[in-house]
Amino acid sequence: MKLDQHILTQLLNKYGSPLYIFHKSEFVKNYIELLDSVRKIYPKYNIAYSYKTNYTPEICKIVKDLGGFAEVVSEMEYELAKKIGYMNDAIIYNGPVKGSGLFEHLENGGVINVDNTEELAIIVAHANENKEKTYKIAFRVNINVGQNYISRFGIDADGSVLDEAVSQVKSINNIQLVGLHCHIGRSREIQSWEKRVKIMLSLVEKYFDSPPEFINLGSGMYSKMEPTLAEQFGDYIPDYSEYSNVIGKEMIEKFGHLSYEQQPLLITEPGTTVVSSYITFISKVLSIKNIKNKNFAVLDSSYGNIGDICRLKQLPITVFSEGAYHKNVDFVGYTCLEHDVMYRDFCGKLAAGDMIEFRNVGSYSNVFKPPFIAPNCAMIEIDEQQNTKLIKRKETFDDIFQTYQF
Ligand SMILES: Cc1ncc(COP(=O)(O)O)c(C=O)c1O
Repeated sequence: MKLDQHILTQLLNKYGSPLYIFHKSEFVKNYIELLDSVRKIYPKYNIAYSYKTNYTPEICKIVKDLGGFAEVVSEMEYELAKKIGYMNDAIIYNGPVKGSGLFEHLENGGVINVDNTEELAIIVAHANENKEKTYKIAFRVNINVGQNYISRFGIDADGSVLDEAVSQVKSINNIQLVGLHCHIGRSREIQSWEKRVKIMLSLVEKYFDSPPEFINLGSGMYSKMEPTLAEQFGDYIPDYSEYSNVIGKEMIEKFGHLSYEQQPLLITEPGTTVVSSYITFISKVLSIKNIKNKNFAVLDSSYGNIGDICRLKQLPITVFSEGAYHKNVDFVGYTCLEHDVMYRDFCGKLAAGDMIEFRNVGSYSNVFKPPFIAPNCAMIEIDEQQNTKLIKRKETFDDIFQTYQF
């Protein structure tokens, strides 16, 4: 939702500057679009929302109300999913370092997506000590879909380690292998999804005598984004229906003849894909300087607020200004780091006191912000009628100081 200068000024007056704004109705609309687009082709599908991407509880609760699962990668995120009210059967527990939440999850009937053989050994030892109980696991498999790097996550599906791990689990009466999981980062193009689903189905064929409970493809779809951002990827940006077509087609070919109950649940784990476009960030210009012919605008925020994306790409922005025309201005933050640049080479009207709206800052932003130099600001939610509510209060100095000894 486009918010005009008048409304933004009112919001900053009420909640302070800078400010995160979560656009609830657009988030929900986009979430449902992804869900429906896959379900149209393969109905037995659900979303597991990637908590690490943005674990703001209000967002996690909306996902829960929409019937989505919680995808967690640490004990902290696991605790949060429980606090949100999730039962273990709707928590997808991933991650290379799971902490002791792993045992609680197993004991409550949850599935652990095993990342490595040491983790498997711990689960096997636990199962041996509790022979009267049955535990459920899946493997995160490390597959190559043409990405140009070697991922460190999961168990290598090429070579014998996965074969041995699967054989070991099959020989243990009280551990059930119920699914397979993968996630491949930095590989968002459609061809890589085609490969990932084909490889996952061939692994299912290899390791399962009957269809597993689930096949989890992780995430790594492009999100919806404005053209100015999209063109910086230098890549074709598919829409959800294109991803759904390649995934759904393969799944239906393989499992379409089975009843709904017998079919595996297809899961994807969107984070960036569903949240990045629905948080904007408003910040104010405090001063404009010219140093040795270079222009800088100092803002009341930092690159830590909007995440690493602003170092890789020029985010879509709107500058609300009636100031004088300026050329090639870098928007820089309040830290003492030279690389704290939030936007490069802005050309347009600009003056101290102006508001700048940064869009597409939903991923790895508020959850990634370090307590360096200053605490984080507030986040509000806005609905279609432009009603607002506070969903994260501004942090205080004491929030930062309280873990230290004085
Ligand atoms: C295991 C796992 N699942 C899901 C995601 C979220 O993927 P995306 O942000 O591309 O939607 C990530 C992100 O790194 C991940 O590591």
